[in-house]
Amino acid sequence: MTHQAAIALGQTLRVLAAAADDPAAQVTPDVVVGSHTDLDDLRRVAAGADVLTFDHEHVPTELVEKLVAEGVNVAPPPRALRHAQDKLVMRRRLAALDVPVPRHTAVKGLDNLDEIDAFAKRVGAPMVVKSVRGGYDGRGVAMAHDVAHARAIAREYLADGLPVLIEERVELRRELSALVARSPFGQGAAWPVVQTVQRDGICVQVIAPAPGLPDELAAAAQQLALRLAAQLGVVGVLAVELFETALPRKREGPPGTLLVNELAMRPHNSGHWTMDGSRTSQFEQHLRAVLDYPLGDTGAVAPVTVMANVLGAARPPSMGVDERLHHLFARMPDARVHLYGKAERPGRKLGHINFLGADPADLPHLRDRAERAAHWLSHAQWTDGGEERGR
Ligand SMILES: Nc1ncnc2c1ncn2[C@@H]1O[C@H](COP(=O)(O)OP(=O)(O)OP(=O)(O)O)[C@@H](O)[C@H]1O
Ligand SMILES: [Mg+2]
Repeated sequence: MTHQAAIALGQTLRVLAAAADDPAAQVTPDVVVGSHTDLDDLRRVAAGADVLTFDHEHVPTELVEKLVAEGVNVAPPPRALRHAQDKLVMRRRLAALDVPVPRHTAVKGLDNLDEIDAFAKRVGAPMVVKSVRGGYDGRGVAMAHDVAHARAIAREYLADGLPVLIEERVELRRELSALVARSPFGQGAAWPVVQTVQRDGICVQVIAPAPGLPDELAAAAQQLALRLAAQLGVVGVLAVELFETALPRKREGPPGTLLVNELAMRPHNSGHWTMDGSRTSQFEQHLRAVLDYPLGDTGAVAPVTVMANVLGAARPPSMGVDERLHHLFARMPDARVHLYGKAERPGRKLGHINFLGADPADLPHLRDRAERAAHWLSHAQWTDGGEERGR
């Protein structure tokens, strides 16, 4: 998707891919097949490039720092990127910047498991146990109903040799995401704040803009994301995943306040709606930012956009994707489909579909159609039996 945007900007990309059939490698002529944890592979992909950037956060910080020392222009730079790589580093920095975050503590090793008991005494159960690095799509995040459960999960995560983060389970009203971009020149641009809907720790739907979000709260979320982008020195797209809390929190004020869950410094799932729903997609904006171009207009092109992820079915259907697409377009000509060229595996994000709506009052219907379309593409089954009702 970044490559699609690069074509229009007259830029060429070189991609580091783990295998020749990786999604990005399928569409890019200039591919280095190698590992993102191997310094020589990273050097090969960076050689002669104007800028090196990322579509995930798993390149080890030490290697990114080495590349910078060797003169590679890395965006975002490692001093920013580390806050998207390590949840403990991020929690501590945000707390130091006076940004509201869930109450948390760190367990450094198997000798410190008693810290969980102390935390539970202060904050209570249930708790959330997180591995500090390497998680995605809810992997490395577990809900613990009591101290014994939390200790058991922490013991398992600590086997990786990394610290574990324990935090309060926040009573969520819903989850939001504030997506912004920042250029080295210092320009910032914010898209409308969106609502993200998760199922089993995986994002399944995004609604842009977040329905019913008071203007002041939306503006506060955008300002927070722009401030963080500047304070952390982010270059490129920054997604700030937010919890809107359900209950008044003594320290944080009235209901409807926001806590930061985590940061991503790359095009993010909560920004996929921008490919069809905004004047500038997050992929183009990320390129503009890392190239230090002026940023694009982040306005929405429709009153409401719904994005639904296409998640691999438990058992991939026998009907081919080509035929599924054919049927989808016959029923829903307005569906904007983006497939990633990935092999179908249960729960894997295989693509996404955007729907634009002319009237926010139609949101329930739009969400229903997006859900049905995504389910059809992964399962070859219409959840409503097959009739397209009342378009
Ligand atoms: N402290 C918490 N209280 C309540 N729910 C939480 C908490 N932390 C995480 N969650 C839930 O788990 C989901 C995944 O958590 P988190 O974003 O930390 O993990 P991740 O695997 O890194 O996510 P991603 O899918 O964004 O890569 C959140 O979107 C939220 O639904
Ligand atoms: Mg997350």
